[in-house]
Amino acid sequence: MILITGATGLVGRPLVDILQAEGADVRAVSRTASTARMPAGAEVVEGDPSDPATLAAAMDGVTSLFLHPRAAGDRATELVALAREHGVRRVVAMAALNIDEPLADQPSRYRGDRNKEAETAAVESGLEWVSLRPATFAMSSLHAWGGQIQAGDVVRGPYAAFAESPLHERDLAAVAANALLNDDLVGTRLELTGPQSLTQEEMVAVLGEAIGRPLRYEEVPPHIAAKGMVERGVPEPFVTALMARYARDLDGAVPRTGEVEKTLGRPALTYREWAAEHAAALCGAPN
Ligand SMILES: NC(=O)c1ccc[n+]([C@@H]2O[C@H](COP(=O)([O-])OP(=O)(O)OC[C@H]3O[C@@H](n4cnc5c(N)ncnc54)[C@H](OP(=O)(O)O)[C@@H]3O)[C@@H](O)[C@H]2O)c1
Repeated sequence: MILITGATGLVGRPLVDILQAEGADVRAVSRTASTARMPAGAEVVEGDPSDPATLAAAMDGVTSLFLHPRAAGDRATELVALAREHGVRRVVAMAALNIDEPLADQPSRYRGDRNKEAETAAVESGLEWVSLRPATFAMSSLHAWGGQIQAGDVVRGPYAAFAESPLHERDLAAVAANALLNDDLVGTRLELTGPQSLTQEEMVAVLGEAIGRPLRYEEVPPHIAAKGMVERGVPEPFVTALMARYARDLDGAVPRTGEVEKTLGRPALTYREWAAEHAAALCGAPN
């Protein structure tokens, strides 16, 4: 039995699907089981990974745990200790590519994500462990630009030349499933990127092709972009860290590690494929 925390999320849902397709028994955790909408055959348990005691009963019979850093928050170590007490043998932690950077420089921390702590909890657990260190998810494009794309053909933002290697969430889930089901990744930290480095300007052009409209990225000064994000409700410390990251890494080498391809034995999914799959959502359809 595999216990999946964060099961209702962006990575958790495809992970549950892949594990089920592989014939694994899956127990999916949600804080609200009644709205979890898990596929038939997946067991759903109600509990909050950031309050580990709520998952004590759910640990019975579990052999492997998928540790989700947003869901576990500051309590990853306790959650993993509980798993160990209940005989769990393996923990696969989701983390992030940037977790060795100074904590104050990691934008996601200002949203409460504890990626570093999740990896540390896994590595120090005494259990078999794997840590997944994903690059920026392709879905971040929808979150960042979806509103502007629905309003017109121009996406305004800072640092048009900032580049990264966006990762398709289904590839991340496929690697996580591999780590949960097979032994060959045990004891590794996997740096997972998409197959191409793309600037923000290039990404927006790809999204335009996917939706059949000539989208254009228009660079605006960072302080104007930051002001707009804060006005839209994005926490200011997150925005400050994000702008600093763009400025810092503007001319930096963008990693493409090839780990997805190596682990899955097939090409990684491209940003263009992601965009085609999400064209309706980019145009405003419910995701
Ligand atoms: N986005 C990126 O580009 C990127 C890149 C690298 C790493 N990451 C990291 O990946 C993680 C996000 O993964 P994701 O997109 O799969 O997450 P997600 O979809 O936002 O959340 C997964 C699930 O966790 C539960 N959850 C959310 N917030 C919670 C909280 N405060 N307390 C307890 N449970 C909570 C929710 O389930 P229920 O409501 O059903 O309980 C949610 O469906 C973060 O740690 C992020 O830093 C993100």
